Amino acid sequence: MCGIVGYIGKQKSKRASEVLLEGLSKLEYRGYDSAGIAVLENDKIRVEKSVGRLAALREKIEENEPVGTQGIGHTRWATHGRPSDRNSHPHTDCSGDFVVVHNGIIENYLTLKEELIEQGHEFKSETDTEVVAHLLEEVYNGDFTASVREVLRRIEGSYALVFMSSKHPGMLICAKQDNPLIIGLGEGENFIASDIPAIIAHTRRNYILGDGELAVVTADSVAITNRAGEPVQKKVFEVSWNAEAAEKGGYEHFMLKEIHEQPKAVRDTLSQRIAKDGTCIRMEELKWSREYLEQFTKIYIVACGTAYHAGLVGKYYIEKLARVNVEVDVASEFRYRDPIVDKHTLFIAVSQSGETSDTLAAMKESKRLGATTLALTNVVASSIAREADNVLYTWAGPEIAVASTKAYTTQIVLFFMLALYMAELKGTLPSERVAELVRELKNVPAQISETLSDVEPIKTFAKQYGFNEDVFYIGRGLDYSVSLEGALKLKEVSYIHAEAYAAGELKHGTLALITEGIPVIALATQKTVYEKTLSNIKEVKARDAVVIGIASADDEELEKYVDHVMKVPETDELLLPILTVVPLQLLAYYAAITRGTDVDKPRNLAKSVTVE
Ligand code: M6R
Repeated sequence: MCGIVGYIGKQKSKRASEVLLEGLSKLEYRGYDSAGIAVLENDKIRVEKSVGRLAALREKIEENEPVGTQGIGHTRWATHGRPSDRNSHPHTDCSGDFVVVHNGIIENYLTLKEELIEQGHEFKSETDTEVVAHLLEEVYNGDFTASVREVLRRIEGSYALVFMSSKHPGMLICAKQDNPLIIGLGEGENFIASDIPAIIAHTRRNYILGDGELAVVTADSVAITNRAGEPVQKKVFEVSWNAEAAEKGGYEHFMLKEIHEQPKAVRDTLSQRIAKDGTCIRMEELKWSREYLEQFTKIYIVACGTAYHAGLVGKYYIEKLARVNVEVDVASEFRYRDPIVDKHTLFIAVSQSGETSDTLAAMKESKRLGATTLALTNVVASSIAREADNVLYTWAGPEIAVASTKAYTTQIVLFFMLALYMAELKGTLPSERVAELVRELKNVPAQISETLSDVEPIKTFAKQYGFNEDVFYIGRGLDYSVSLEGALKLKEVSYIHAEAYAAGELKHGTLALITEGIPVIALATQKTVYEKTLSNIKEVKARDAVVIGIASADDEELEKYVDHVMKVPETDELLLPILTVVPLQLLAYYAAITRGTDVDKPRNLAKSVTVE
């Protein structure tokens, strides 16, 4: 996610550029690829931006720092358009009178851009944000606030936006929808930020802007109105966290923060990919035809760790919905096993960071052998994205904790959409079924929020079983894939020995390890294999294991056979992995808390594995 800082003051000795750069530096920990500021200098807007680190921007303006007491700044995490000076924020209109910074995604930007180009606007970047500046220029009627309101009426999507205009010195306007934005209150100066750390050095007193609200901010006043233009009275939110806690949004660890960010991460990943009428999937990035797709007789999904586990779910989706043969491989194995790859192969690399060396090498090797390559990654213009013929981005925002959480759920969502897209092209699913699945998919973000709303029972289990040395996870089909991810999360952050098994495999060896009191987490959400899973649960119960069942809300059977049940909201069983993994992530997190491990930086592990 990108970062925003805005400042408006009156004292000439306090330069806006200093406040902006210092604020942006406090957001550096989240990762970004470029940065920029705009300052109102002698009644003109001066924009300075630079790809790369903030230090590069500082160096650029060092000799000639902008003079002015109001401005806006931004650190960018690319979504639309690769990292570059041109694509960095702030963005201006044609005249240079209006400037804007933006977090989020403008979903209808392509349509707006076409209209604005027809009206004579010239675009300088590939971003969705630039349309906002041009649209403001187009609708401007002399009243800055009313014109911004008109812009907000026309854009669709999610945003935190801050506007400045040389025609209206002494004011900043900001607005938000589904992206955080706060207004920091000072004496004779005010601040705007996407995150508390950016301004905590100046003030602890903030207004938290709500969805649909717009604020006009001057050095001495803040006027907030709702969508209808009616004044909104806000309570001041006093930040009691220290700077370190503020970086984590008040959560104790990045892992927990990122688990809780999943509804938004999934919503962002879905955005722009569901047709307006909600009946099918659009993949603007691919533009494949049926003939193009049918040339592939085989798909390889290759990845490491959590991304590999997402790939297992991806295989299930593509085979089930689009009826194409899929093999999933661990990248470090694939690259050395002389795989059968030719021009009829589609190679899909999955990687949060886009930098994992084994995955990158496997992709290069497949390309050399003639495969067409597709990357599913979270980082725009990462090495894997650059190497691939096609790219689909998960829009999860930066993931800082070593344990991958929101990357996994968004990768699954992307695989689900890809499989539906392929199914539509190939005609392997009736359109009513596609529409039904898309409908269910749209409910998923709210269902993740529901799953996250009651963590107390999970905390209790974690306390109860956090000191066990071994934990087993079992499931069949999609439940087995999620079990693998649950076990990886637990070992990674709590250092508890955890193993996942296809439930039907237990009796082929592992059952020997099931003894009295051993915790077994049993996922039983897949209807076609439900009875079979139940028999496996009875097998472990018969050995006096303690069984925690994970079930769908409509299941009334499982609780009769297990010691505890955790339920997730009811949805199509294909989508349940996106929900069932959430309690497993939380269980791992709270088990780690119980054991006092270094949750965000587990021993021996790195976030990005760029060595073999
Ligand atoms: O950046 P990538 O998705 O390519 O990373 C792959 C694995 O290193 C990563 O998923 C790792 O397994 C995580 N730490 C698991 O939480």
